Amino acid sequence: MSFRLQPAAPARPNRCQLFGPGSRPAIFEKMAKSAADVINLDLEDSVSPDDKPAARANIIQAIGDIDWGDKWLSVRINALDTPYWYRDIVDLLEQSGDRLDQIMIPKVGCAADLYAVDALVTAVERACGRSRPISFEVIIESAAGLCHVEEIAAASPRLQAMSLGAADFAASMGMATTGIGGTQENYYMLSGGTRTPADPWHWAQAAIVAACRTHGILPVDGPFGDFSDDDGFRAQAYRSATLGMVGKWAIHPKQIALANEVFTPSPEAVAEAREILEAMDRAKAEGAGAAVYKGRLVDIASIRQAEVIVRMSDMFAG
Ligand code: COA
Ligand code: MG
Repeated sequence: MSFRLQPAAPARPNRCQLFGPGSRPAIFEKMAKSAADVINLDLEDSVSPDDKPAARANIIQAIGDIDWGDKWLSVRINALDTPYWYRDIVDLLEQSGDRLDQIMIPKVGCAADLYAVDALVTAVERACGRSRPISFEVIIESAAGLCHVEEIAAASPRLQAMSLGAADFAASMGMATTGIGGTQENYYMLSGGTRTPADPWHWAQAAIVAACRTHGILPVDGPFGDFSDDDGFRAQAYRSATLGMVGKWAIHPKQIALANEVFTPSPEAVAEAREILEAMDRAKAEGAGAAVYKGRLVDIASIRQAEVIVRMSDMFAG
């Protein structure tokens, strides 16, 4: 490790973030009773401009009235280029009490975006005597957001999580696709006449994970639009988990179990990680730094890899 130690990300489950439009209060109770770790009530793109004031009022009332259990409760505000975002923050923080955990800031493009929101949030919190500081999550969903991802990850001590928003990202990049995440038909390698689909989101995901891990933030994969395609969701989610992301959004309740399945380490993976730790304990007792486990090398780095899985499993069990 560098002399500058890598900070740990917040130790809370974030396997599935369930979204619902603020203009559709009939589903809020269902969201609260779901198996998602995080709830994102939306004021942004799933709410039409005329519905913004009503959606704010619905959300403020629901934060107080509904039993959200131990869910991490977040509201997605409108982006900083709109006339809505300041009112979102002022009304939410002044009127919704201390139950709200987090606000999600979409379309963040640079560190100064977070500075501006932090300044307003801090002022409102002080004015209304909020006892628990609100935390932030952001969506990286523009070319600028990805270019500045590391400075954004470092921009505010309130920041806990960062998601990739595939649809807006694709639009901002000028990508020739209308799909929201997942495999894109025209992105493939050709070998011996056979098309092998490749992953157009890989660079963005890896950049987000690196920025997040550098600054102790949870990296999260955003929406997968085709909620009738379970296998497609799973494939996308397994790629994200393999790259280091901790969870994924659900834009329909069908996707909650899929996200929980992928982002909870399987019993087999946990058992193998524990066996690797035991093999290394035995190696250490014999004064060795490396050992053979099932015919392959394990060494001190393997301990750190195995600990990631065991720590995750312990957190979900606890
Ligand atoms: N959370 C909880 N429950 C939901 C839900 C959600 N996001 N979306 C739908 N449901 C409920 C429905 O009320 C219905 O319940 P019922 O069986 O008791 O009647 C059930 O799940 C099945 O819903 P279905 O008919 O398949 O979907 P729909 O047509 O009502 O809604 C969407 C589909 C995509 C419009 C809706 O899921 C939605 O608004 N998703 C979130 C969109 C969003 O927030 N986007 C912003 C982030 S990208
Ligand atoms: Mg978006």
